[in-house]
Amino acid sequence: MWATLLLQRVVVTYSNAMARIIVTAPQLMSVVNEELPGHEIVGGDHFMDRQELADHIATADALLTSLSDPLDAEMIGKAAKLKVIGQCAAGFNNIDLGAAKQAGVVVTATPGVLHETTADLAFTLLLEVTRRTGEAERWVRAGKAWRYDHTFMLGAGLQGATLGIIGLGQIGEAMARRGAAFGMNVIYNARHQKNVAAIDAVNPNTQPTRRVDLDELLAASDVVSLHCPLTEETRHIIDENALNAMKKTAYLVNTARGACVDEAALVKALKTGLIAGAGLDVFEDEPTITEDLLTMENVVLLPHIGSAALPTREAMSRLAARNIAKVLSGEPAETPVE
Ligand code: GLV
Repeated sequence: MWATLLLQRVVVTYSNAMARIIVTAPQLMSVVNEELPGHEIVGGDHFMDRQELADHIATADALLTSLSDPLDAEMIGKAAKLKVIGQCAAGFNNIDLGAAKQAGVVVTATPGVLHETTADLAFTLLLEVTRRTGEAERWVRAGKAWRYDHTFMLGAGLQGATLGIIGLGQIGEAMARRGAAFGMNVIYNARHQKNVAAIDAVNPNTQPTRRVDLDELLAASDVVSLHCPLTEETRHIIDENALNAMKKTAYLVNTARGACVDEAALVKALKTGLIAGAGLDVFEDEPTITEDLLTMENVVLLPHIGSAALPTREAMSRLAARNIAKVLSGEPAETPVE
């Protein structure tokens, strides 16, 4: 009997301990290890290329992934015993959800822990581009002459300006609250009417938040900020026509996905003065940036760091790892992608 009990215990421990978890990109491994004790964890210190990912996926029980991993149908088709993909990001446009579903793989992401931080960064871009801080700092660092001058480096003001938000999910709503706090009136475009009570509660002096169609949003906004997921519907939602529809004095902020904007059309619009400027954290062909943007004074360029605050990244790692642990132990994931 003792032998049987011992065997059972060994078997249980074995099945808990021996899940093979592939971490496809640099990760906060102390956090990941804390949440996934006793498992075989491979990677986490470098970006796996397509070949390395393909080599590992065949033997993986779980993947802890990053937003540039090519988890297309071909890649997912190589999985033999994969149970869960723990995407460590809010977005998951790199994952073929249909293929994952067909293969019986649960896909999870990390909403709910990064929206305030990402909205902080989006609002940083908004402030930087409207107040020309990048341009002004470059001026100072270049040793160019300056003195306090009533007419020097004039930017746009925010009080009473209109902030147009495309996609009022968690990040869009957090951005809208920041806009309201700075005295901006918020309009938004989204597939469904949203509860805007928290936005309207921020500032008694702003107008009630309104849902509008895309044309009205583009025509009326002083700043257009993108917070939608990248889907077939939102790919190039900001294209030549959209840029044409914006005010010449308006700014574009993108912290969503690069491909939501037609980057070539944006460059043309910036060059010809169709819009006043852009603040970009994401690019169409990341990490490559259209060369022309690098020389323009009226753009602010960041290297996709929307959620890159240490406590936020720790919370994301923890949630992604917890999702994996739950699915491996037969429980529902905390934040599955539905
Ligand atoms: C970052 O872009 C994310 O999707 O979390």
